[in-house]
This record gives sequence, C-alpha cells and structure tokens, in this order.
Amino acid sequence: MTMEYGGVWNGCLEMNSRQVIQLEFFLEAGDFSTAGEASSQIKRILQQIGVKAETARRIAIGAYEAEMNVIIHSLGGKMRVAILPDRTDISVEDNGPGIADVKLAMQEGYSTAPDHIRDMGFGAGMGLPNMARCSDEFSITSEVGVGTKIRMVIHHP
Ligand SMILES: Nc1ncnc2c1ncn2[C@@H]1O[C@H](COP(=O)(O)OP(=O)(O)OP(=O)(O)O)[C@@H](O)[C@H]1O
Ligand SMILES: [Mg+2]
Repeated sequence: MTMEYGGVWNGCLEMNSRQVIQLEFFLEAGDFSTAGEASSQIKRILQQIGVKAETARRIAIGAYEAEMNVIIHSLGGKMRVAILPDRTDISVEDNGPGIADVKLAMQEGYSTAPDHIRDMGFGAGMGLPNMARCSDEFSITSEVGVGTKIRMVIHHP
C-alpha cells in the first residue's frame, strides 16, 4: 500500500506486514495552533484507505474531542492510533490533573471550561459524551494528580 500525505505531518507513520498503520501524536497543553491536526490526519488516512465516509467522520469526531480535551484541560499528553483493516483503535493518555468525578464529567453539559475557553467556542460539555457515542467501545479512567486515559475502538463496517 502506498500513501501520500499533504499538509503538515505532525506524527510519525509506520506500517508493518500485518497492515497496521500506527500513529502517535504528541499533544501540548494550550497549543491551539496545532489543535485539530491529529484528527484531520487520521481522517485523511482513513479516507485514503477507503474507510466509509460516515465511519471516518465518526472516528475523526471522537479523535477531535479527545485531542481538544488534552489540549484544553490537561498538562499535555499523547494519542496513539492503530488503524487496522477492520477497526481503528485510539488511546489517549495525559499527564494530569485528572478528573475527580468521571461520572459527572461524562454528563452532557458538564464543563469546567473557563470563560476564555468558552469564548473560543469550547466548553459545551459535549466532548466526552460525543466520544462515547462515536465509539463502538469506549473507556475512560482517571486519577487525580496522575492523569486521564481514554480508549476508543471503532469498527469499520
Ligand atoms: N483530559 C482531561 N483532563 C482533565 N479534565 C478533563 C479532561 N477531559 C475532560 N475533563 C473534564 O471533564 C469535563 C467535561 O469534558 P467534555 O469534553 O465533555 O466537555 P468540555 O471539554 O468542557 O466541553 P466541550 O468538549 O463540549 O468543548 C471538562 O470540562 C473537564 O472538567
Ligand atoms: Mg471537551
């Protein structure tokens, strides 16, 4: 399989003989200049390998929400993506501050985003519920003072 990439490439690409595309994106806290790039790159690759548009869109939305949460709410972290023939598997890990009440954070409309973040159009409290909705498998674990881990698996029909 050959692939071409346009635009800014912010991660590294690797393919092995089992046809897995592995991507790793380093997400810096507060870095809005590159915000959204990881999910755009993922979407582009999915389109290039012929994943259905509706599925690619769902994956990109989940990845975008996860990416933005790390940039907005955490001290930084990374997103690892494995694109396989039948599914996309996304793991996101950050370096804190963690979420004290995950159940509350998962509720639609719950947000601790401050005014300057809301002024940028974020903070509706819909990111985590959207990630869960977009995924076939979703899990979140968080420890205050340590960090948050999210995993999303989306099957390619
Ligand atoms: N990686 C994270 N680290 C620390 N806190 C987080 C993290 N992700 C989410 N949170 C907390 O959970 C809340 C809900 O997250 P969610 O993504 O649903 O909404 P939001 O980011 O506030 O708004 P939106 O995603 O709609 O722009 C956040 O306001 C924040 O308090
Ligand atoms: Mg969010």
